[in-house]
Amino acid sequence: MEKMTLSVIKADVGGFIGHSSVHPELLEKARESLEGSKLLIDYHVGHVGDDIALIMTHRGGSDCEEIHKLSWDTFVACTEVAKKLKLYGAGQDLLADAFSGNVRGMGPGVAEMELTERPSEPVIIFLADKTEPGAWNLPLYKMFADPFNTIGLVIDPKMHSGFIFEVLDLIEHKYVHFSLPDALYDMLIFIGAPGRYCVRHIYSKTTGDIAAVSSTQRLNLMAGRYIGKDDPVCIVRCQSGFPAVGEALEPFANPHLVAGWMRGSHHGPLMPVSVAQATPTRFDGPPRVVGLGFQLCGGRLIGPQDLFADPAFDRARAKANELADYLRTLGPFEPHRLPLDEMEYTTMPEVKERLKHRFMSVNPEELLAEAAAGE
Ligand code: 13P
Ligand code: 13P
Ligand code: MG
Ligand code: MG
Repeated sequence: MEKMTLSVIKADVGGFIGHSSVHPELLEKARESLEGSKLLIDYHVGHVGDDIALIMTHRGGSDCEEIHKLSWDTFVACTEVAKKLKLYGAGQDLLADAFSGNVRGMGPGVAEMELTERPSEPVIIFLADKTEPGAWNLPLYKMFADPFNTIGLVIDPKMHSGFIFEVLDLIEHKYVHFSLPDALYDMLIFIGAPGRYCVRHIYSKTTGDIAAVSSTQRLNLMAGRYIGKDDPVCIVRCQSGFPAVGEALEPFANPHLVAGWMRGSHHGPLMPVSVAQATPTRFDGPPRVVGLGFQLCGGRLIGPQDLFADPAFDRARAKANELADYLRTLGPFEPHRLPLDEMEYTTMPEVKERLKHRFMSVNPEELLAEAAAGE
């Protein structure tokens, strides 16, 4: 069977209104740009919040220059529309002036997998806004390593040997493989710190097949200054040796706290929503995730099914709202506000510099002497 490639390439090239959603003219422009391409077998233009996701099938493999160029050109064309409408942050995620071979490192987020289509090939494409790639760590761990979430790990012979997790260190640009379940405790010391370590690929130990892939770009690290959060995407294959669709969705029924809300500088609950509900406006959030389900059919994308539109996720949304209410009461204090070194915005260097002459040194010996004299 011939291999084909599923590529999801995303960018924020202008918000409508502020950072809350994508203007319909941008989505139209993206469809127009992909429609004309002879490279693609099929495509779907998805969106969440102010991010556009180009979901594409083709035979060019991962990191295919033509596909990356097509995506770059599409985002450039959308940026033109965003500029014309004076949308907010037009071209926000396009960090380079011109395309040079691969969009990785140029701003857009990328998740790609090469696969041989099974007799039936259900996939879920998760798109999130107001967060970062490490937001997938907890749900991917639950889907592929936690039997309390995924009963298939216990009772499906094709899943019982477990999965290999590839974890990327975003600071040192190195990756490491963990064979689960044996290396579970070793892995958790890393992926429990999602600002630095991200699950990038997951492979089946039974077949060696790719099971999941996430986008792992960090715009703020790449650019060295704030230029928007790197809102992430993730592809998960389902059924027949992979998690059932419901096992892949189940982690989102308990909203976890992620970084990236308001000015990319706050923690908030990741709320699972339908596409119609994917316009974050409360304090620019709370962070959102949509799940688009497709059946692949000779590379055609049959779908999408809007998987979090189910009222069974209403309670998760209510819980996310309760968590959001609570966190908002903390205002500018951690842990709602991110730690100093993770905030995307800060006045600290300027304020500290201005006040530096007012900081007094504390001399511990003097203090001890004073205390002794007072006795
Ligand atoms: P401005 O600093 O451009 O107003 O943006 C604030 C904001 O919305 C953070 O992304
Ligand atoms: P985006 O990263 O989605 O552009 O949001 C910026 C932000 O910080 C909004 O408050
Ligand atoms: Mg934006
Ligand atoms: Mg966004």
